Amino acid sequence: PVFWIVIPAAGVGSRMGADKPKQYLELAGRTVIERTLDCFLGHPRIAGIVVAISADDPFWPVLECAADPRIVRAPGGRERVDSVRSALDLLLPSAAPADWVLVHDAARPLLAGDDLQRLIDALQDDPVGGILATPARDTMKRVDGSGAIDCTVDRSTLWHALTPQMFRFGLLRECLARAAEAGWTLTDEASAIEAAGMHPRVVEGRADNLKITRPEDMLYAQWLLSQRT
Ligand code: CTP
Ligand code: MG
Repeated sequence: PVFWIVIPAAGVGSRMGADKPKQYLELAGRTVIERTLDCFLGHPRIAGIVVAISADDPFWPVLECAADPRIVRAPGGRERVDSVRSALDLLLPSAAPADWVLVHDAARPLLAGDDLQRLIDALQDDPVGGILATPARDTMKRVDGSGAIDCTVDRSTLWHALTPQMFRFGLLRECLARAAEAGWTLTDEASAIEAAGMHPRVVEGRADNLKITRPEDMLYAQWLLSQRT
């Protein structure tokens, strides 16, 4: 099978509140987005990588990886899902419907090679696809609109959705288009597949595949990196 990578990287990083989007902040001497791309550039079975970048982004073109022939740039969109759809459109001439696409947040630079490999190995013969995920750790409550607890939700049924999320190119493109048409708000790819009545699989991944979101995440990510090398 053929594997394509889609990296949504057109967010502004409002919760980080830095002077540039968080994907361009440096993490132990290398930008977040370069570290994210490195997770895939070393993999032998990747056919190509599409990064969704804002039209007016001055930070991407000056990076060395912007000139890498394995990486192409698609225009970013208003929401993450729009950026992903834009990247998939760019793949349309090259990708076959049955090819796999792995969508991975630019803001997740700590994806470990063994997690990526486990996801691919677990799903490459699957009819639908699935996602890296990690089991919920805390006791989980359903809370009503007034701030009062309705009930405790059985934690063993709850997982945190991570990325990469791996689906067939044709199916993913179709389901995302259908969701857009219906006006649904999606925060990941799997929800578009679920909405079409299918059941993506979860593949347990490391909890330290964190999405850098707030300033303290940078400190945690730096520490995790220092432990890995
Ligand atoms: N993203 C994107 N296009 C958008 C919004 C987000 O490609 N219109 C990307 C981000 O660059 C990030 C990933 O989607 O890699 C996950 O989004 P998030 O963590 O929410 O990043 P931001 O939207 O940049 O952060 P914030 O929500 O705090 O503004
Ligand atoms: Mg966002």
